Amino acid sequence: MRTRDLLKLRNTGHPGINALFAKAHSADWDFEEDVDWTVPVEPDDPLVAHGWAAYGQTPTFQALPERVKTHATRRAVGRMLNILQVGESVAQNVCARLVLTLREEDYRNHAAAQAMDEARHHLAYRRFLDAMHEDVEDIDAGTELMFDGLLSMDDPLELIATEQFFLESFAMSIFEGIRREATNPLLRRILELITRDESRHMGFGVLYIAERMRREPLEWRVGFARRWLGQIIGSLLDRPGPIMLARVVRRLREAGVTEAESLAPRLLREQQAINAADLEAAVTGATVPHLLKSARRAGLLAPEILEALDLSDHPLIRGALRGSSEAESHG
Ligand SMILES: [Fe+2]
Ligand SMILES: [Fe+2]
Repeated sequence: MRTRDLLKLRNTGHPGINALFAKAHSADWDFEEDVDWTVPVEPDDPLVAHGWAAYGQTPTFQALPERVKTHATRRAVGRMLNILQVGESVAQNVCARLVLTLREEDYRNHAAAQAMDEARHHLAYRRFLDAMHEDVEDIDAGTELMFDGLLSMDDPLELIATEQFFLESFAMSIFEGIRREATNPLLRRILELITRDESRHMGFGVLYIAERMRREPLEWRVGFARRWLGQIIGSLLDRPGPIMLARVVRRLREAGVTEAESLAPRLLREQQAINAADLEAAVTGATVPHLLKSARRAGLLAPEILEALDLSDHPLIRGALRGSSEAESHG
């Protein structure tokens, strides 16, 4: 980009996107002042309710000694916070790239404000991890590959669809889960502040995609929805299975459970029943995942698109439409 390009920067005039930039300032928080970093993170504090972690709600896990459960839960929290802290750095890179490639003034401004939010989130997660005083498990290969893919993109649509629209909607459910289940007040406070910022980021993704969807012909919209609804449904069906179980078994062994392997089949069976119940809640519309709410708000669940993709009767889509319309009719 050259000076001449910047001389011609155009504001789209989108009231929602322009408002996000103002809100980034009015809803601002101070990393040092608004978080009480003197709240202790004791070594025997599980930090979240045991039920937060995968397999943590199974009767077999619940029956383990408290000391063992605390070790396993802390390992799960540490692993997740490590993924989140690097995810924040990835998001910061994405936003920096967006500032350099977008030509719309209001879109660039949002990306610049978001980059600062992500820097602050990274610091907060890192500082909490340091306070835990323990090694964290490495991030998994799938997550690393996905982040590498994102870091190699330069097309703004591709970047925004992947980061703000998909990943931040996906992550919103993780943030809400930790905030809800956190028993350590420092962890809960950090998540409360971060979630507030993340809902603006996700909002930008939805508004940007919704604008594109409004302007593009049906064929484009169907193509876009095919790719992203596939990804969304796939990730919603991806529930704790054998890979996660192997991690849990390893954590139990670290905590001195000698017969940890022999518990695996029971843990898996019990978790599968929990997975089925969770999925049922999404199918009935009792809970609508953020990913599907974002898809609906961006226009991906329009009847003509669902028809073209033969998804009108998909149980998760029907659940999302039912759940959303009920939520709206109740105000
Ligand atoms: Fe963030
Ligand atoms: Fe974010």
